[in-house]
Amino acid sequence: MPDITLDYGRLMAEAAGAAGLTEADLNALAPAAKKAHKDIQARRASGEMGFLDLPRTLAAEAARIQEQADHLAARFHNLVVLGIGGSALGTRALASALLKPFYNLRDRQDRGARPRLFVADNIDPDQFEALLEICDPELTCFNVISKSGGTAETMSQFLVARQMLRDRLGERGYRDRVIVTTDAQKGVLREIADQEGLLSFPVPANVGGRFSVLSAVGLFPAAMAGIDIQALLKGAAGMERRCQEADWRKNPGYVLGALLYLAAKKKKRNLVVVMPYASSLLETAEWFQQLWAESLGKEKDRQGRVVHAGSTPVRALGVTDQHSQLQLYGEGPEDKVIMFLHLEKFGRTCPIPPAFPDQESLAYLGGHSLAELIQAEADATEAALARQGRPSLKVILPELSAEVMGQTIFMAEVATVFAGGLWQINPLDQPGVEAGKQYTYGLMGRKGYEAKAKEIKEQFRRSDRYRI
Ligand code: PA5
Repeated sequence: MPDITLDYGRLMAEAAGAAGLTEADLNALAPAAKKAHKDIQARRASGEMGFLDLPRTLAAEAARIQEQADHLAARFHNLVVLGIGGSALGTRALASALLKPFYNLRDRQDRGARPRLFVADNIDPDQFEALLEICDPELTCFNVISKSGGTAETMSQFLVARQMLRDRLGERGYRDRVIVTTDAQKGVLREIADQEGLLSFPVPANVGGRFSVLSAVGLFPAAMAGIDIQALLKGAAGMERRCQEADWRKNPGYVLGALLYLAAKKKKRNLVVVMPYASSLLETAEWFQQLWAESLGKEKDRQGRVVHAGSTPVRALGVTDQHSQLQLYGEGPEDKVIMFLHLEKFGRTCPIPPAFPDQESLAYLGGHSLAELIQAEADATEAALARQGRPSLKVILPELSAEVMGQTIFMAEVATVFAGGLWQINPLDQPGVEAGKQYTYGLMGRKGYEAKAKEIKEQFRRSDRYRI
């Protein structure tokens, strides 16, 4: 299996100057790294970090997922995923990286007789109703994905789709077209799935939303669209083996997590720009963005001390953002580290035909290909940033295959929990999103949240005079 590589030469002082890390910085991390490794092992042994075992534990479940997916894919022309955050972003990343470009615009035969795949994560009413309009209910099935089974956005979409299906196709038509992915025991969605006899897949209790792409959460929609989910798990298993290494300098997940941590802590590089040089990896950058942000952005450490941990991931796209963001990255505030996702081998080359031999500014392009140009621009950007004293690192993907995506996903997950250990925070919770949810409940009239509704209305009223 071709392995992914992490190249961090340009994050080091030799290339990036004063903004770069030194060998001494890396060596000084040893005690903290040892502690973070021990902590991960202990939490894994106690069953708290279930995602680390998914490549192994999901093999049998993956066979059942594949079987159901093959059966449903033969019947339906559209799969609509209803889910948000960790219940949506992994599927988007897999679909974008591994399906043919413009998959949904291709005819069924060109899609390998698999359904079109839509991920309806936002609750924009214009978009959601339009999506239901373009999907013939007869030929559409819905995968409702929610670990907790109570997320307002997903459950609202579910209620809308459920009513539409019941109205258009009757009770049986509805039950035939909804597949639920949720906790095996807990939550209202589990109750409904059991009561209404809906086909369902479990999300393991010890796997959190943003770490769940290699469970049924990501595997079922991926299998529906024809992605090789066994290869995905095989790739993840390969990386799992590489990430068992206790010496952090030999463990790719630990190295990635440690470098981004050190860049923030030692060099005040509090922004991580994730910049793939391949359009099909932009959604992988979005998936990583959630993983890193929600896991590490924490007010308190595990001892309860206020630390405001984390660094802010943002996404950019090569080469597009060379013509939008790069000026800022090279000369603006010295607060960023750029993480390139570099694809070594594209599926196609797209040759550029020679033409206009007398026009020097065009003639040099002829005889090359878009594949060569994008690689040249990726290298050029990396070198130019280093010259400007701007640190970067690069994840090199040898190809876009399910195995390589499995490796990439697993490495990023390990990097995230390892960085959590170094920051001494809990990367598995997300207490900071609770307050907003409670205000929403109040505004939507949920019983027990009347005080929250009053509080938010009062807050808005007080700031009224600052409107023009
Ligand atoms: O990582 C997380 O836990 C969150 O981003 C969740 O995935 C997101 O809030 C959706 O939650 P649920 O799957 O319970 O609907």
